[in-house]
Amino acid sequence: MKQFISARDVSDINAFVKKALEYKANPFKDKSLGTNKRIGLLFLNPSMRTRLSTQIAAQNLGMEPIVFNVGSEGWALEFEDEAIMSGNKVEHVKDAAPIMGKYFDILCIRTFPSLQNREDDYSELYIKQFIKYSDIPVVSLESSTLHPLQSFTDIITITEVLQNRKPQTTNHKPKIVLTWAPHVKALPQCVSNSFSQWVNAWGEAEFVITHPEDYELDEQFTKGATITHNQEEALKDADFVYVKNWSTYNDYGKIYCNDPEWMLTNEKLKLTNNAKVMHCLPVRRNVELSDEILDGSNSIITQQASNRVWAAQTILSEILKTK
Ligand code: CP
Repeated sequence: MKQFISARDVSDINAFVKKALEYKANPFKDKSLGTNKRIGLLFLNPSMRTRLSTQIAAQNLGMEPIVFNVGSEGWALEFEDEAIMSGNKVEHVKDAAPIMGKYFDILCIRTFPSLQNREDDYSELYIKQFIKYSDIPVVSLESSTLHPLQSFTDIITITEVLQNRKPQTTNHKPKIVLTWAPHVKALPQCVSNSFSQWVNAWGEAEFVITHPEDYELDEQFTKGATITHNQEEALKDADFVYVKNWSTYNDYGKIYCNDPEWMLTNEKLKLTNNAKVMHCLPVRRNVELSDEILDGSNSIITQQASNRVWAAQTILSEILKTK
């Protein structure tokens, strides 16, 4: 594996899930794989889970992780080729990335979208420029449009729950519902795009997306899912409910709806097949998700976040084995 920026970089998702669960059972089994290797974690934006879990994953493989908060501590980077750098950008990625390529064996990058210009954000310029100029494997810690380590974790967690369930009498596929939820800020579409891409690529679930009108996501990620504006209809018999806010895609980066009726409650959960509730975190309590759901027995958010380590460890190990 030379890069990890989307589901397209994984040929067999179930095989990767199996490896991740093996790491969960035996975290140090490949402790010598990363001996004398160094991994750089570059953050242009804040993070808690991604930065900690990726560092732990690297250390489990014997690698030395170095975190660099480029956004707050580094020189302001220019990403456009042929830019005339007379503004506030101090260093071009074309100059910075090759140096990082010499310092590190693997480079991990987190960027966010501007939510100002859809074409720019969806071009994924930042991560593509690091891939182009660093000349070492690049791992996305969340990009402008996708969050692949989160989505891989989500499939690991769903598989783990299904494996621990009593055998089903019927052979039906689990029903997974991605539901939009209210939020006070305009948030990226990354997690929802990425979750949709991974569930579709995995192909082992009935997949339903529900959101208010005019909140359609990019079809390149959602194609294959059933999409409805009727949340209650969507929730019927669901086995997993993934809750997430996103801002509008078509009229880009806007908040059209803040209807609290879209927040998941225990009453709505009664429509489901005792569904497990998922969220990538961080979450705004009692705005995006209610206390009663987050603190209730159906929530698997802590299990989900803890699995971030095994997702990262699997991807890093695949890269190390390829190098
Ligand atoms: N889910 C997630 O990426 O969390 P952080 O933003 O804390 O890394």
